[in-house]
Amino acid sequence: MRIGMIGGGVIGQLLASTWHAHHMYTRTRARIDDWAKQHPHIVIEPSIDALVSHSSLICLCVKPRDYPDVLRALRPIVRPDHIVLLVTSPITIAQLEQCLPCKVAQAIPSITNHMHEGAVLVAYGSRLDEADRDALDTLLRSLGTPVPISPAHVRIAADIASCGPAYVATLIDALVDAAHTRTGMSHATARTLASLMVRGTGQLLCAGRTPTDVRQSVSVPGGLTALGTAVLDAIAPPMWNDVLTRTDAAYARECMHLGHALSELYDDVDEPAFGDDHLLNRSPR
Ligand SMILES: NC(=O)c1ccc[n+]([C@@H]2O[C@H](COP(=O)([O-])OP(=O)(O)OC[C@H]3O[C@@H](n4cnc5c(N)ncnc54)[C@H](OP(=O)(O)O)[C@@H]3O)[C@@H](O)[C@H]2O)c1
Repeated sequence: MRIGMIGGGVIGQLLASTWHAHHMYTRTRARIDDWAKQHPHIVIEPSIDALVSHSSLICLCVKPRDYPDVLRALRPIVRPDHIVLLVTSPITIAQLEQCLPCKVAQAIPSITNHMHEGAVLVAYGSRLDEADRDALDTLLRSLGTPVPISPAHVRIAADIASCGPAYVATLIDALVDAAHTRTGMSHATARTLASLMVRGTGQLLCAGRTPTDVRQSVSVPGGLTALGTAVLDAIAPPMWNDVLTRTDAAYARECMHLGHALSELYDDVDEPAFGDDHLLNRSPR
């Protein structure tokens, strides 16, 4: 499988370096000059056409808003045996299959995959055969833990697995700042303690302990930890509800906007508009 990346940002670089990709095309070449020097085996192509002609797996590592332009360029040049990999959530496999005459899969990574940790959310399109799925499974296992995901849950799964590291980092930053302000402990020491704590807690949870188990093992009734978790119990449910409500609203707007942009590329323009169809498939929260 010859692997080509379109987009040389955070995810393009992550996938390219983990998979030892062969080709990359990105909009602003100058931005990846330093990175490209460290990966001399990757050919930086001058155009999407050149990348497609040299690749069998094409990974679309651009922001959702840039997908319509890239799909417009790909549509006349991809062959039925090409596999195109979607790495984002506001566009569905069904949408991509309507836009492109090739095989389509979805694999949503996470920044945690830099450490070969975390989930990779996976869904396969109808045109892939068993050999294609096996080859992709092998690639995805080198990133993290592949987790099959249904279209109805792609969004919430991406919230947890891909946005989650930013949410946890935000909470850690606030804890580190509070520790420094209240005690003078250096940010570096507090950050080290918090990082080791998050890693260890993650390992406990991945080993099968439930969050309730972990809480009960740490806090005794009336003890200090129980006082702290009571504060969090009051804040956390409305906080997560607010986070998801706001991101849902932005996501719905993005789906609608993309739906209109992509509908120009559909084979059958009588199909339901992407945005509406996609929102109907979403699970209630
Ligand atoms: N970051 C994450 O943690 C994460 C997690 C899961 C999924 N994703 C998904 O991964 C995708 C990429 O995200 P990212 O964080 O890597 O974004 P990013 O760092 O902004 O990188 C996007 C890259 O795409 C390039 N690009 C834009 N339009 C292009 C075009 N027409 N042709 C070729 N290259 C083009 C950009 O070039 P310029 O330098 O010119 O801007 C940039 O190099 C998104 O769809 C996102 O939803 C991201």
